Amino acid sequence: MRSFETRSLGALGVEIVDLDLHGQISDEDFSALRETIMDEGLVLFRGQPMEREAHVALGERFGAREHLNPMDDDRDPGLVVIGNVDATGQVLASDSPFMKLISINEGWHTDSSFRPVPASFSLFSAVVVPPEGGDTFYASLEKGWKALTEGERQSLYGLNGIHDYASAYRRRGSQSGAIVGFDDPPIAHPLVRRHPETGRSILYVSEHVASIEGWSLDESRRLLDRLIAETTREDRVYRHHWQVGDFAIWDNRSMLHRAQGFDGTHARVMHHVRVAGAERPIAAIPSTPMRTRTPGNDSVPIRKRPAATSRESAPTREPS
Ligand SMILES: [Fe+2]
Repeated sequence: MRSFETRSLGALGVEIVDLDLHGQISDEDFSALRETIMDEGLVLFRGQPMEREAHVALGERFGAREHLNPMDDDRDPGLVVIGNVDATGQVLASDSPFMKLISINEGWHTDSSFRPVPASFSLFSAVVVPPEGGDTFYASLEKGWKALTEGERQSLYGLNGIHDYASAYRRRGSQSGAIVGFDDPPIAHPLVRRHPETGRSILYVSEHVASIEGWSLDESRRLLDRLIAETTREDRVYRHHWQVGDFAIWDNRSMLHRAQGFDGTHARVMHHVRVAGAERPIAAIPSTPMRTRTPGNDSVPIRKRPAATSRESAPTREPS
């Protein structure tokens, strides 16, 4: 039985008020914490500034750290400093390459979905926050899936999304697209995945999905935009305004997030440990026989491709 209490954050997520992240977290409490994150998508702690070592050590209890060259911190490979301050404490120019790189975080995404094995959990610590802006928005892909009509859900099984970080970066105004360390080739993941631990079905879309495998870009964009809009409807989103000492953990397998821009003349520094996933995304399969389509039940015109023969998707290039 867990020893901590949770308090709802509103649309989604919970705050944990009585678990000291610096203390010895028992195996029982850690197991309960992990379950809570997977059930709620997001957990938040306040007033717990995390030292680098403690942050990394907590991350490693969830699994192996994911390395993010070239953003890995020299002192602590595996701990990424996301911020606009250089080694001397000077705020970087707002048009610096690094600031452009992090601007991609302003689109709805799940961490590392552009990799064959995307990240599982992310652990985020607020170190320096600007006077305003720089909030993070969260939305649940599990709730997004449940919000669809039965007809829509049935039509999405078997589809694959092409995750392409460089394409998403280009849409954000970069001419080059490719980024050293983030230049993985486009990769297909199922549009509806089964959570590897809870077994629940989850919509797996984000702004890093460039297209639907085998679909035109226009058709893909229409469907992806519709699914992201449904998932991120205003009343389904939790917006977090960071205070120094806030510490958040979320499950990338079931959550979208995005950052709000901020006045780049102010400093913002967040420490981030990303936990490597253990497996490639697994396609969800329908749990009930296909129903006859009801007129007016589908609000999205969807073209169905033949169902995948494998429960795992294979890497593929984006269709030209
Ligand atoms: Fe992120």
